[in-house]
Amino acid sequence: MRVGLLGCGIVGTKLVGLINERGPTIEAGSGLRLELAAIAVRSSSKDRGLDLDDSMLTTDAEALVTDPSIDVIVEVIGGIEPARSLILAALKSGKPVITANKELLANVGAELYEAAAANGVDLLFEAAAAGAVPIVRPLRESLLGEDVRRVMGIVNGTTNYILTRMADDGVSYADALSEAQRLGYAERDPTADVGGFDAGAKAAIMASIAFGAQVVAGDVYHEGIGAITQGDIEFARQFSYTIKLLAIAELQDVADGEGSEIGVRVYPAMVPNDHPLASVRGSFNAVFVEGQACGELMFYGQGAGGLPTASAVLGDLVDASLNLRRHTFHPVPSGPRARIRSIDALESAYYIGLTVEDNPGVMSAVAGVLATHDISIKTMQQQEAVPNEDGDQARVALITHTALERDMQATLVDLRRLDDVCDVNSVLRVIGS
Ligand code: HSE
Repeated sequence: MRVGLLGCGIVGTKLVGLINERGPTIEAGSGLRLELAAIAVRSSSKDRGLDLDDSMLTTDAEALVTDPSIDVIVEVIGGIEPARSLILAALKSGKPVITANKELLANVGAELYEAAAANGVDLLFEAAAAGAVPIVRPLRESLLGEDVRRVMGIVNGTTNYILTRMADDGVSYADALSEAQRLGYAERDPTADVGGFDAGAKAAIMASIAFGAQVVAGDVYHEGIGAITQGDIEFARQFSYTIKLLAIAELQDVADGEGSEIGVRVYPAMVPNDHPLASVRGSFNAVFVEGQACGELMFYGQGAGGLPTASAVLGDLVDASLNLRRHTFHPVPSGPRARIRSIDALESAYYIGLTVEDNPGVMSAVAGVLATHDISIKTMQQQEAVPNEDGDQARVALITHTALERDMQATLVDLRRLDDVCDVNSVLRVIGS
């Protein structure tokens, strides 16, 4: 099976090494010989630390994807273009494609899934959702008959590393981010990770597959982790929670109506310490799936990094090659455009952190505002007041029972209007056990 590789960066380089290393075992097990035929790169003079014949490198990616001597294409360039056009051309030439490109799939996935189906070849993308963690294939295949209700995951290793350092070692957000950048987890511009965009793309991909309806990155409500403070982490600890950046996609029944909507969002949330996701630490990823018949499942592992990502790509490469040999393919269960439930209409429990004047009646006033919006308090705590130039101020933290997002937003407006509320410092959603 002659393999054409588009891109030879961190993942591509590791994939070349893995094909060489694992090739004999794969051949012994399946009779499939993977042969790297050509690699399309932007610059053929760059040293990639690989022992490659110069003739294997080309800067003509268009020619590579339509070369009749190449059987299967791996795309690890990233970004929308030229990846999109190259993948479409490869599919139209009857070549299966393996991609790790979450941005592409989360924006124009449907076009690519349709092109793959129309040409009767595979488009496989296990590496696009949580690196080496097998989640796409279980959702596409093992759980095809399942009524999946919710997919909830920690799908960004950089932010999980930062939050773990903040919680375990008391490191500030800024210091944990700098450290993540030094270790190579976070990019110099960390916005995609810390702003929740990367997790949002993965949420869109997982939602599309889990629910068989097209969800795109723009459908995903997202908040990042930049506002999380040590104060939030301390309160979380006292209430037996851990703060995690979660990607959540769930089916929502439509009241008095037909069918269902999909609620899909990324935000930092308080996860109860006895929930399996609370124990996912450092740069690890995990995806927790809930289905009607299967119950709860969790998939755990390395969500980033050249070698783990290349491992997922190699699995897809073997699968697609075997399918090509058998003249078959795995169709992507992608349906019509999803009906998305807006964040305003989603329900959650909430944690609110406030700074208040230490005056009589403050707690009653705060509780009164919540009651006005029909939001019930589950637990509430005040720390001893600290004197400062404006008088004695205290930190108050409370956790509510389930409420509608739009009611919570109205509550926050009213809380900020209270004379004795100096600041609403934090608002985080709280996950149930
Ligand atoms: N930057 C991502 C992460 C990996 O930190 O998990 C690539 O999606």
